[in-house]
Amino acid sequence: MEIKDSVVVVTGGASGIGRAMARRFAADGASTVVVADLDADGAAAVADEIGGRAEALDVTDETAQIALIERTEADCGPIELWCGNAGVASNGGLELDNAAWDFNWQVNVMANVITGRHMVPRWIERESGHFLITASAAGLLTNLGTAPYAVTKHGAVALAEWIAITHGESGVRVSCLCPQGVRTPMTEADGEMAIEVVKAMGMIEPEEVADCVAAGLAADDFLILPHPEVSRYEQRRTGDRERWLAGMRKLQATLPG
Ligand SMILES: NC(=O)c1ccc[n+]([C@@H]2O[C@H](COP(=O)([O-])OP(=O)(O)OC[C@H]3O[C@@H](n4cnc5c(N)ncnc54)[C@H](O)[C@@H]3O)[C@@H](O)[C@H]2O)c1
Repeated sequence: MEIKDSVVVVTGGASGIGRAMARRFAADGASTVVVADLDADGAAAVADEIGGRAEALDVTDETAQIALIERTEADCGPIELWCGNAGVASNGGLELDNAAWDFNWQVNVMANVITGRHMVPRWIERESGHFLITASAAGLLTNLGTAPYAVTKHGAVALAEWIAITHGESGVRVSCLCPQGVRTPMTEADGEMAIEVVKAMGMIEPEEVADCVAAGLAADDFLILPHPEVSRYEQRRTGDRERWLAGMRKLQATLPG
């Protein structure tokens, strides 16, 4: 897709990867960049900087998403690209209570279901539209130490694939962004053991992710992998599941705690 002259929405746009994407889309000539985030002040700061529109949005609130879509399309024109990028991570495993699991499920998966429910029919009618879902390498592999994150990011990848298969012939394009470690508040705040593995594998900057997104969107790629080695890891996982599980157990055993 062409970013130039397009109306773009970026959720989680106040920080990290979302902020870098919003900046990049503005630099690439998007006609409007809507910076939507739970953090209203952060969204306003990014929107001010890039000449975009700030929206205070909880992506899990369906009524608020509908209102944002209607307001944006009335004022700025059809939304050509929606980046479902807002995400959360809870550290822990099976001991986490249902509320923690539901929190990850609502933000990392259901928010994108809601977007699809209201944007995909519009894109089908126009025979044009692009949905970028920020999943994670955790959604193709796993994430040590953060069970709800690994599980819900697998859900986000599955959702992206499902929409691409079901609606791809109707002009709806889907991209699934699956980075490994990126230096953002999410990884800085994360003191759990898994982040040590991610750090050891190499952290990249949000701007490098935004560069990959720009290239991936221009090429209409489904899978956008800022860490290309993730493709090799995924092939190893699917090629010999027993060996991959044994390797991950070994890796986990090397970690402190
Ligand atoms: N940082 C990494 O290493 C990494 C790796 C792979 C995938 N990701 C994914 O990238 C995306 C962006 O994460 P980031 O690293 O930039 O983190 P970040 O914490 O810097 O940004 C996340 C943003 O999402 C917003 N947000 C959270 N819940 C929201 C909600 N309910 N409604 C609206 N906005 C909400 C936050 O306010 C924040 O501004 C997430 O989906 C994350 O899972 C991050």
